[in-house]
Amino acid sequence: MKTKITLLAVASALLTTSSAFAADAAKGGQLYAQRCAMCHGEKGAGDGPVAATIPEGMKPRNLKEGGYKYATDDAKFKELLQKGGAGVGLSPLMPAQSDLKPADLDNIIAFVKSLK
Ligand code: HEC
Repeated sequence: MKTKITLLAVASALLTTSSAFAADAAKGGQLYAQRCAMCHGEKGAGDGPVAATIPEGMKPRNLKEGGYKYATDDAKFKELLQKGGAGVGLSPLMPAQSDLKPADLDNIIAFVKSLK
């Protein structure tokens, strides 16, 4: 009985780990193109067409350089996407993606990391 429980624990740990690695940067890239590129730029340089209309000092972050104020790890990055800038003490110009599923947010995060 004890062995069965241990096996189950190991199996579920493996499942959790593999799903954490299964974030799909390609899918994230499609969402990024639709939802982020207009501000953060196609390649993440912070130079999307909308960025030009945002005053100096309030510009979208250069995602290639990082140097994030809040999104310093994946969990906080996800929270930023769920709550938007206003929800985590950043600019309200950074919009929430609250309509997306958590897996989609993981995919976007994987894509953004690939820009560096
Ligand atoms: C309307 C323009 C706009 C859109 C669209 C947008 N952002 Fe932003 N983003 C901003 C601005 C402006 C900031 C700077 C916020 C600040 O410094 O207070 C920002 C900041 C960030 C940061 C840095 C956060 C930190 O902790 O410093 C990340 C990461 C980020 N955005 C990712 C994304 C992703 C991923 C998407 C698409 C899902 C996205 N943004 C869509 C404007 C935008």
